Amino acid sequence: MSTNLSYGPVTEQPAGEISRRTFMRRMIGVGVGVLSLEFLGGTLAFLYPNLSGGLGGEIAIGSASDITSLFPDWAKGQPFSYPKARLFLVNVPAGKALVDGKETSVPDPKDQVLALYRKCPHLGCQIPPLCEKSHWFECLCHGSKYTILGEKRAGPAPRGMDRFPTSITGGQYVVNTGKKETGPPIGTATFDNRDADKIPHCTG
Ligand code: FES
Repeated sequence: MSTNLSYGPVTEQPAGEISRRTFMRRMIGVGVGVLSLEFLGGTLAFLYPNLSGGLGGEIAIGSASDITSLFPDWAKGQPFSYPKARLFLVNVPAGKALVDGKETSVPDPKDQVLALYRKCPHLGCQIPPLCEKSHWFECLCHGSKYTILGEKRAGPAPRGMDRFPTSITGGQYVVNTGKKETGPPIGTATFDNRDADKIPHCTG
């Protein structure tokens, strides 16, 4: 017995389904849309830093014990990086001891801290963590170099690293990123006046 079933043309698009090509186009469109939104978000965050709680306002970073639990080396003088405000919080007594080669532990430096802005005062590159060789901040872009207190020692930067006023409120370090202070002028040498040519560096 023969059957004579008709299945219809096999190349036609079933109702309610989309072709592979259309699907790929839509996926590419979604991808481009997401990237555009991320770019727009990043641009707005950069252009309008005075949003509440972000760069431009008062930011509570945490207590000394919060920071030490998160980053134990802070008590030994390594600057604590706080990316949200693009700053390093320097534990000044421990940092000075580290640079002097007399590493010691200062888990709570009280008000002896310094909030240094990571934006290089030369052309604005982000300054990386302390160079382990020199114990200076060394900008990777054009080689400007700063001590652990942000005083300029070498390179094309016009001054030391800018900084923010810091207070202690309710046991927490609060940095006022809306009141940026211009970095110290070239020649300021309150600490660490080593000759740049006589110590090893991380940058040229
Ligand atoms: S941007 Fe840092 S040295 Fe030029």
